Amino acid sequence: MSDKTFENIWDALPFPAFVVSSDHRIEHANAAAEQLVSTSQKQMKNKALSHLFHEDSIVVGTLKQAIKDKGSVTQYNVDVAIADKRAASCNIYVSFLDATQTDLLLVVQPNGAAQKMSQSLTNLAAARSVTAMAAMLAHEIRNPLAGISGAAQLLAMNASDDDIELADMIGQETRRIGQLVDRVEHFGDLRPMTPKPVNIHDVLDRARVAAEAGHAAGVLFRLDYDPSLPDVAGDADQLLQVFQNILKNSAEAVSGKRGEITIRSSYNSGVKLAMQGHKTQNLPLHIEIIDNGCGIPDNLISEVFDPFVSSKSNGTGLGLSLVSKIIAAHGGLVECTSREGRTVFSVRLPVWQKKKGSI
Ligand SMILES: Nc1ncnc2c1ncn2[C@@H]1O[C@H](COP(=O)(O)OP(=O)(O)OP(=O)(O)O)[C@@H](O)[C@H]1O
Ligand SMILES: [Mg+2]
Repeated sequence: MSDKTFENIWDALPFPAFVVSSDHRIEHANAAAEQLVSTSQKQMKNKALSHLFHEDSIVVGTLKQAIKDKGSVTQYNVDVAIADKRAASCNIYVSFLDATQTDLLLVVQPNGAAQKMSQSLTNLAAARSVTAMAAMLAHEIRNPLAGISGAAQLLAMNASDDDIELADMIGQETRRIGQLVDRVEHFGDLRPMTPKPVNIHDVLDRARVAAEAGHAAGVLFRLDYDPSLPDVAGDADQLLQVFQNILKNSAEAVSGKRGEITIRSSYNSGVKLAMQGHKTQNLPLHIEIIDNGCGIPDNLISEVFDPFVSSKSNGTGLGLSLVSKIIAAHGGLVECTSREGRTVFSVRLPVWQKKKGSI
């Protein structure tokens, strides 16, 4: 590709990106970056990064960290103040551009409407009140439901052929409501988790074997595991549920095609999650579930982690909200990206630390 093409790509990127030298001087900025900081390329060139972001800002801090670690660092959900504007929540990514380790790429992405990250971390309090009410309602629905399904069974015993069909339908539909109630109740279960060391590959294998025997029969699985991965700090049963739900969706998305699902695990020491009022969490364990299915409909992508969001006629829309809730309880992060033929669910989790015996 010619330099001109690279320049065009650089300017067309929808992410504000800078090239910064290891002594913190700005060498290039793309069009999105110019817009973010309301300063032109020319004005920025050769200026210190602290001109745009304060010297003690998290942006400069992340840059220093990447230089110190000689690697890449990602920070999620951190508050960044740009010049004299109000601080906004952003994701920051810093990485060296080449092996000589002179220039770095810095991406500062504000978390706007396009954010596809699970929001559950930020609205845990709201989730608590909603789930408590859902649990109460679920409990109250069970009794009349048992009555309806019992009555339908009695009716079916003495009914004509036509009426048997209707009685069966009542039976089927009450079972469906029953399953929904089960899931809502599960969703409302907010007992605190006690983290233990969990081998994530065991969990992934259990989820895959269960999927192969059910929803994902006939789907080709590719496993790309990093065998040196340390244990996760978490709850094995809850994590199993997470990957079962994700795999179920992937299997449903690829059904009727030459379905392929890749399960990948890797280690990336540079990923950190910063939450207001909490200490920064290292999330080096990275699990990706990639499928070649239909992709998530555009109008749903920003909401897939919300409860009751579903494009399926028989879906409850609770699968991914449960995923998001469990991962949030682990102090982790779940995100997704999707286009037709490639949907990626990416889960980042903390490592089990022996000494502290906790996350
Ligand atoms: N891998 C995927 N490929 C395409 N679309 C997906 C994928 N995963 C999730 N979705 C979309 O996200 C929606 C929400 O998923 P979620 O698991 O929360 O609910 P559901 O699958 O519809 O219902 P349930 O999990 O109760 O069966 C789905 O209806 C689907 O539209
Ligand atoms: Mg689902």
